[in-house]
Amino acid sequence: MAAPVAERKPLPTGTAGGGALRLGVAGLGTVGCGLLAILQRNADLIAARAGRPLQVTAVSVRQRRKKRPLDPGPVRWHANPVDLARDPEVDVVVELIGGASGPARDLCLAALKAGKPVVTANKAMLAEHGGLLARQAASSGTVLAYEAAVAGAIPVIKTLREGLAGNRVHRLYGILNGTCNYILTTMEQTGRDFADVLAEAQRLGYAEADPSFDVDGIDAAHKLAILASLAFGSIIDFRKVHVEGISRVSAADIAMASELGYRIKLLGLAQMEQGGLVQRVHPCLVPLDTPIAHVDGVYNAVVTESCAAGRILLEGRGAGAEPTASAVAADLIDIAAGRFAPVFGVPGRHLARLRPGSMRDHVGCYYVRLQVHDQPGVIADISAILKRNGISIESLLQHGRAVDDERGVPVVMTTHEAREASMDKALGAIARLASVLDRPHAIRIEKLNEAEEG
Ligand code: NDP
Ligand code: HSE
Repeated sequence: MAAPVAERKPLPTGTAGGGALRLGVAGLGTVGCGLLAILQRNADLIAARAGRPLQVTAVSVRQRRKKRPLDPGPVRWHANPVDLARDPEVDVVVELIGGASGPARDLCLAALKAGKPVVTANKAMLAEHGGLLARQAASSGTVLAYEAAVAGAIPVIKTLREGLAGNRVHRLYGILNGTCNYILTTMEQTGRDFADVLAEAQRLGYAEADPSFDVDGIDAAHKLAILASLAFGSIIDFRKVHVEGISRVSAADIAMASELGYRIKLLGLAQMEQGGLVQRVHPCLVPLDTPIAHVDGVYNAVVTESCAAGRILLEGRGAGAEPTASAVAADLIDIAAGRFAPVFGVPGRHLARLRPGSMRDHVGCYYVRLQVHDQPGVIADISAILKRNGISIESLLQHGRAVDDERGVPVVMTTHEAREASMDKALGAIARLASVLDRPHAIRIEKLNEAEEG
């Protein structure tokens, strides 16, 4: 028999500020201070839309004395964030600390157990522990809201969960990491190097506390796992996402891609393929005539393709203080106004454990960059290997001649559709050729034609 779903408990009307909704905010970093700024600047408008004022009554940070761009005013300071869950003057807990486990998760679980709604921007925690937190929210009859966790300011959670509720989604994909998009765009537009642009993204507050989460694709994978669960009604399963980051993408790849009529983007894609759910995050060459190729800088974009609505493209700022806090504020207004939806769109018992699709069976086109000795027969050897594996070349580029044969010369080719397993086998054999100097670098090409139902 299905487990009963608790009724949602009414929110307390609060005592402070004449019926204000009292907020306990954990974390006053980039997003926390962005939230304070919005709540202070738009207080009247927010109160009108929420039906009551929103008031920060308590906060928790790691270092209370740290200089911050904004002062939270007369609030209670808790050294231990979990105390926000126990504070009788906190109606709603806002978790903006970060980290999949540790204090963030302890605080959210404690608040949900106490029946207090939780608003969070923490995609790592949701990707790792979303099922557990959703079950706790359901059994306590309270709310877990996380619009800010995916694609910053873009209201993609609401779009999938509510706006597209009558649709079957065939495919979704998007640029889900602002830091990577900022790095790739800036490298292309200015020729600056990777490390320099990453440091700038960190200064601007876009990057995660550990920026390897951004550049290695993990942050985008966290977000994709959340979106895939909402879109396909599946139990969230971050471990099943195929993940590759952008650290091997070079200035040469960006220039070659451009010459071939493409841009390089880190995409997250989720689609049913042969009865399995394929979730993948990796750099892609996308054609210059697709809208997503022109989503630049810190902007994110999410494309959904669904049975009734067709294709929808959402674009906006994917990271940064106020864009992210804008989504946190929207969740808080929903809670104050009594609007409520199950965490992953349907009660947990209706979520399915979908079989993960295999990347080895994935069929697509490839860009391959090789560093080879500039000598007769090299291309013939490479072509022979591709032919043996049933892969056909679409185009081949070699500029100039090697000045120094020790370093060789770059050769770039693109292929027609091939099975990933065949491509892996071919690249392994090419790497073993004496004339090939470095490990071949392959990037998938996504043509992004509209998908059919999988
Ligand atoms: P920051 O590192 O800027 O801020 C983190 C805050 O948490 C700081 O105020 C820090 O205190 C506080 N903190 C850390 N540990 C503790 C602890 N043990 N107890 C109490 N407070 C603690 O992070 P962001 O604001 O960038 O990110 C917050 C969350 O939002 C993360 O989950 C992130 O992934 C997510 N997010 C961030 C976006 C962005 O653009 N930055 C966009 C979308 C989501 P102190 O200031 O004293 O060090
Ligand atoms: N580090 C993340 C990004 C923050 O760059 O997209 C927004 O989730």
